[in-house]
Amino acid sequence: MKDTLDYIEMFTDGFTPEIGLVLGSGLGDLADENAIYTIPYEKIPGFAKSTVEGHKGNLVFAEINGKKVVMMQGRSHYYEGHSMQEITYPIKVMKKLGVKTVILTNAAGAVNKSYRPGDFMMITDHINFMGINPLVGSNDDTLGVRFPDMSEIYNKNLIKRADAASHMLGITLKHGVYVATSGPSYETPAEVKMFRYMGGDAVGMSTVPEAVVANYCGMKVLGISCISNFATGVSSNKLSHDEVIRITNKVKPQFKEFVKLIIKSL
Ligand code: HPA
Repeated sequence: MKDTLDYIEMFTDGFTPEIGLVLGSGLGDLADENAIYTIPYEKIPGFAKSTVEGHKGNLVFAEINGKKVVMMQGRSHYYEGHSMQEITYPIKVMKKLGVKTVILTNAAGAVNKSYRPGDFMMITDHINFMGINPLVGSNDDTLGVRFPDMSEIYNKNLIKRADAASHMLGITLKHGVYVATSGPSYETPAEVKMFRYMGGDAVGMSTVPEAVVANYCGMKVLGISCISNFATGVSSNKLSHDEVIRITNKVKPQFKEFVKLIIKSL
């Protein structure tokens, strides 16, 4: 950790972010527009490289609406072969940099039949269906406790602020439960049906490990899913990453305004 923090410090001149933002598939533009310092993940000791299209792989320091923010322009995923420890390491780094609030974003498939591609969903809770927990391993007592409470990962107060921001922008915001799978294959129709019976509203391959670790470290968490497609079986369409990127590109301008307004209200 010390290597990582020393390296970042060398390039950021004492910049102390209070907000951390993880930008998911196709949503990384916000970082380009506001960057003060940009550091590629491959240069940062301990950071895993993202290999997925739509994920640029930069740690970006910026000021947005008067707030100091550190952004992950793209993330690394479990399905790329990285360990849970590797993919959640940047969240621990954010904590050490002084971040108090983490905003996690992703593209997700609609499990809830009333959702449409292009909708935004506030994550109110999640189901970890990845088959592994990011806190497995020896515990670092300086970050959190061995058996952390997870009764309110997604901060209710932050959700209210996001609701207010969505009203101001005329965005209809869904509230729902995000189910995380390991990926990389998309789900089968039977799996999506099961997720619906279990109480899931959207499905994706990220976010949950980061949310668990951020909550464990005592940071407030807000999660936003951009619904990029109907999950398998909800419509007769076949799924592809190109379609996910196409929809996230389309909603990007609205998404950026939304996130900026949330940041302003924090
Ligand atoms: N399933 C899993 N992950 C996803 C999906 C999906 O339908 N859409 C975007 N990420």
